[in-house]
Amino acid sequence: MCQYFSRLMKTCKIEKATKSFFYCNFAYMARRNKQIMEHGIDKRDVGYYSTPDFMAQYIYEEMVKLNPAGSSVLDPAVGRGELLKSFIDSGKIVHGYDIIDYPNRLNGFIFHHEDFLARYISHKENLRRQAYDYIIMNPPYNSHEHTYIATNKILLQSYFKTGATNMYALFMQAVIEIAKEGCIIGTIVPQSILFTRAYDKLRDKLLQLCDICQIILCPTNLFRHNGANVDTCILILRKGKNNGNLIRIANRSANIATFKSLLKQHNLIVCSLADIYQRINNKSAIFVLDCPPDLIKIFTNYPRLDEIFMCGGGVSTGNNKLFTSFEKREGFEVPYYPNVNARFLATPESFLCNDYMEQYRGTRKFIVRHPDKLECDGIVCSGIGKSFRAAYLSKEGVTGVNAAIWAPKEDVLWLISYLNSSLVAYLLKGIIARSHITTIGNVSSLPILNLTDCEKKTLGRISKQVINGKLAPEDAIAKIDRIVYRNINLSRGTRKMIRQFCADIIHLV
Ligand SMILES: C[S@@+](CC[C@H](N)C(=O)[O-])C[C@H]1O[C@@H](n2cnc3c(N)ncnc32)[C@H](O)[C@@H]1O
Repeated sequence: MCQYFSRLMKTCKIEKATKSFFYCNFAYMARRNKQIMEHGIDKRDVGYYSTPDFMAQYIYEEMVKLNPAGSSVLDPAVGRGELLKSFIDSGKIVHGYDIIDYPNRLNGFIFHHEDFLARYISHKENLRRQAYDYIIMNPPYNSHEHTYIATNKILLQSYFKTGATNMYALFMQAVIEIAKEGCIIGTIVPQSILFTRAYDKLRDKLLQLCDICQIILCPTNLFRHNGANVDTCILILRKGKNNGNLIRIANRSANIATFKSLLKQHNLIVCSLADIYQRINNKSAIFVLDCPPDLIKIFTNYPRLDEIFMCGGGVSTGNNKLFTSFEKREGFEVPYYPNVNARFLATPESFLCNDYMEQYRGTRKFIVRHPDKLECDGIVCSGIGKSFRAAYLSKEGVTGVNAAIWAPKEDVLWLISYLNSSLVAYLLKGIIARSHITTIGNVSSLPILNLTDCEKKTLGRISKQVINGKLAPEDAIAKIDRIVYRNINLSRGTRKMIRQFCADIIHLV
């Protein structure tokens, strides 16, 4: 391996920084190799999550349907060759790269024991000249905290212009750059590529250079047996732009059995890019899959929460151990809500030190956002979890980096009811924030319906009854839903879809 890198150094005309990248990676790979020999493979560290056979077969079939005549294949993160069986069996010439030469690797393809990203940096044109007909990959998903990105950050940022926050994003940028016109690219990647602001630039690049052929959300627990708690999707692309192409999509299946049968029957919805690529927050467009038009319309027909109410964060201490206490005790008496454990009326997660404003002035990482609002009551929203909860925030209480809403007194109670409606649960967790995190920006983007005074009064009364212990939250939500649905005249089909989503929100977000 060492010889290989020295040869590479001599033969490539690469700048100094790139050289140190290779040496660094060599050290990284050597460490990895040592670990394999001593302790076996550390799956999380190398991002090894093997693709189930039925998925590999599905992606193969769809890629070959899109280009029946292709002959050459690249898998830049090949592992044991899980994605390649059918390509090899059908006689294609297959190249696979991996930093680890795994035992029991499939035969029948040309294996490059090599860091694909380093190869891309040093030999981009060479890779382009290979003119692969198909590129298939399930790349590593490790985030920026991973040694690889942390160690090479500056260099990676200079080569990967759409961002170097995650290994999968680097692989994605590399393959769409080297793919020839017409190349079919089949990938399994985290779904954050479709939905989150961190990948805005990558989405733009992808749409600029490729047609999207298929998007299928995978079930949430697909790689859990491999220790990966990440929501993924199948994304099939064709390099080049052929405006107006049709896209086949599938929303999330609730479990692996349903997903398997979906793929077996190739049972997808056909739509256009304009149907599913929507500017639903004020800043960027995201993918909105299989969403009824009467829900999409809500985003254009109504103002967003932050156009009407003040929405922001509260206190982050930088060291909760030091500045908070799980028990209320002398010196720690401020109810602190860095998350929300119940709808309508939550109990504080912990208690913040009484002198937090002094700590803010004197401690570097102690941050107080919106100090002018700290004495006001309002609404606190959950920031973590697949479901969404909103609760009353008394003026003594303080939020964390999760959203707080400071509305005029007369608006607080009806707004709590509206925020706990099934409609809002769907708009937020089925469209705006399809992950276990809900940010202040996500809550700020929520459309606020044009409710009548009478509806607001009834909604306010419902919240009050729950807060006073006179109505169960579930019964309250049924009442709230009736008012909200009537207001926007939502179709029966859409109501049913929202009900099903909320009933299994953990699996369907
Ligand atoms: C999610 S696994 C996929 C394995 C297999 N292709 C599959 O689909 O089951 C990702 C693979 O990427 C490899 N890998 C990680 N970093 C890499 C790099 N810089 N270059 C090439 N391969 C890499 C890991 O060793 C691992 O085998």
